[in-house]
Amino acid sequence: MGAGRLIGRVALVTGGAQGIGLACARRFAQEGARVVLADLAGDKGPAAAAALVADGFDARFEACDVTRRDDFEAVLDRCDAGLGGVDILLNNAGIALQADILTATEVLYDQVMDVNLKAAFFATQAVARRLIAANRPGVILNMSSVNAVMNIPHLIAYNLSKGGLNQLTKNAAIALAPHNIRVCGIGPGTIMTDLARNAVMSNPDALNGILSRTPLGRAGEPEEIAAIAVFLASDDASYVTGETVYADGGRLGLNYTVPVR
Ligand SMILES: NC(=O)c1ccc[n+]([C@@H]2O[C@H](COP(=O)([O-])OP(=O)(O)OC[C@H]3O[C@@H](n4cnc5c(N)ncnc54)[C@H](O)[C@@H]3O)[C@@H](O)[C@H]2O)c1
Repeated sequence: MGAGRLIGRVALVTGGAQGIGLACARRFAQEGARVVLADLAGDKGPAAAAALVADGFDARFEACDVTRRDDFEAVLDRCDAGLGGVDILLNNAGIALQADILTATEVLYDQVMDVNLKAAFFATQAVARRLIAANRPGVILNMSSVNAVMNIPHLIAYNLSKGGLNQLTKNAAIALAPHNIRVCGIGPGTIMTDLARNAVMSNPDALNGILSRTPLGRAGEPEEIAAIAVFLASDDASYVTGETVYADGGRLGLNYTVPVR
């Protein structure tokens, strides 16, 4: 259990059915928030929400494709009606499809940008408009990546989307500051989730490559990202806005390799 830092708040987490998003939702709930997991239709979202409820938390699942604005607005309508509105939005849904500058198709480019950047843009707009109309403060968090500022050539669309997300964080933070809405980002390095396992952890060479670029000598855990999310979402971070906090085991400062332990 936490210190009750989010009591009275409603937190909506996109891509909240598993991985980093679910870990963040659990930490929000431990701090007293009522949480909404918004994710694609299927079994895992309802099961994740049910597991939170079984642990005594206030949680629900909303089936939602974040690339469909009508889907997302309908989720917000239900949150307004059933929970009194959303105070905290975590734009976390993300995909990492592989292609480089020579091989990327327009379809792949659009798929990645639609989920990772465009959906976050319009979700931010939608939640901010409702907060302002209700004259309520709020917090919007964007799940970025070290790949917002570093590059993996065969993840070009992912790199672009996360770079854009960092600019969304800064721009929206300034625009929404007069409305008492903070906007912050989180930039994970390599975190042990399905996305990471599929994208980079599936072969030993890739794993050694990652670890040789990680001074702390290990991948991170979703809970280590959730700890940052709950800080940024809470009033402990009341003077932080426009900032992206990196949790990468030291990777961003490194211009060399370190021994693989
Ligand atoms: N895992 C890492 O190492 C890592 C590193 C840096 C950044 N990130 C970022 O963290 C976020 C979460 O990553 P993860 O590792 O937990 O991934 P994950 O694949 O385990 O989970 C992503 C979730 O997003 C959902 N999702 C995908 N498309 C969606 C859509 N159109 N609408 C609604 N939900 C959708 C998926 O169903 C899934 O539940 C992503 O934005 C990712 O880019 C992850």
